[in-house]
Amino acid sequence: MIKRLLSAVLAVVSLIIITGCGGNSQETIKIGVAGPLTGNQSKMGADVLNGVKLAVDQWNARGGVLGKKIEIIQRDDEAKEQTAKTVALELINANVVGIIGHFNSGCTLPASENYFHSGIPMITPSATNPYVTERKDEKTGQTYWNVFRVCGRDDVQGERAARYVMEKIKAQRIAVVHDKTAYGQGLADYFKTAVEKAGNSEHIVYYGGFSQQEKNFKPYLTTIQEKNPEVIFFGGMYDQGGLFAIQMHDMGIKAVLVSGDGVIDPEFLKTAGPSAEGSILTFAELLPFASDVYEKFPTVKKFNEEYKAKYGQPGPYSIYSYDAANILIDSIQKANSTEGKKIADAIRNNEHECSLGKIKFNEKGDIDGSFYVIWEVKNGEFKFVEK
Ligand code: ALA
Repeated sequence: MIKRLLSAVLAVVSLIIITGCGGNSQETIKIGVAGPLTGNQSKMGADVLNGVKLAVDQWNARGGVLGKKIEIIQRDDEAKEQTAKTVALELINANVVGIIGHFNSGCTLPASENYFHSGIPMITPSATNPYVTERKDEKTGQTYWNVFRVCGRDDVQGERAARYVMEKIKAQRIAVVHDKTAYGQGLADYFKTAVEKAGNSEHIVYYGGFSQQEKNFKPYLTTIQEKNPEVIFFGGMYDQGGLFAIQMHDMGIKAVLVSGDGVIDPEFLKTAGPSAEGSILTFAELLPFASDVYEKFPTVKKFNEEYKAKYGQPGPYSIYSYDAANILIDSIQKANSTEGKKIADAIRNNEHECSLGKIKFNEKGDIDGSFYVIWEVKNGEFKFVEK
């Protein structure tokens, strides 16, 4: 009898050890990070991962959170929708209590459905498609209470670019291209709609898309060249943007290349070289690697120095992922819990002191305040043009 009782007790004890008895009794507090860690966008994926690593190392050096060390579980979504769904399930199964990511809107949109159904809060540093925070769950009609972003939105970004193209460049003929992703096509469409609203639809002389794998843009540029545009708006990422700029230049196309946050990276300058000169890009006024950033934003200096010492030059989104990780961990501390709903409430209900400045989220999970300004490539650098 005693033997049987003993083995029953032992079975229960080992079950508790094996299962960890739910999130809280784990030895570490796990945070998921997801983005393109391999492939053509791996530079920006690494920027995001390194930002999170820096924040987590600093928290762990101070003792972690809720008395436990923080552990990063990283996953590569390859900037692909389907892989994003797979890695979302892996992160959920790994018992992460929150997510930083995904990087691309095309990955964030499908993956956030899984995190929503599992009640896991997520802060994307970079996914700018409006629907990331606008959606309601199809089954329940509930808003995605678990989704936040520290970046801006493409409806605002596309409109800002259109205003510059219409009022400052005063373009009459505009070509619009995109990479057919939620981000690239979404941004191109918001830009196009804003142009049509400001002027008339005849300004748009070309509209078309190509796959994210495309490297030869000359067939598209040949058709575009015949329309003789003054501006080509490019909805896509830096890897294709760099090649696109070179091929424009090679074909003698003089149009101004206009694009957004996916292109404003030193890698674009490296790939495109002199072909990048004169390109117009939208991003926040705070661009960590811009030459005069410390004068305007003293809070960035500390981040830049700490980041550079470990990982070299920060990318445009490194500081966003660093702040997103700090907000998540600080909210776990404030909630005094690893329960998703409580963490999300702490994210939503507090103002956060960040390297980017003060961050406060609205009901949707977007940050308050206007965001996009105009940058131009001048002498191989990104220079601020106007708010
Ligand atoms: N802003 C880009 C996206 O949403 C990185 O995919």
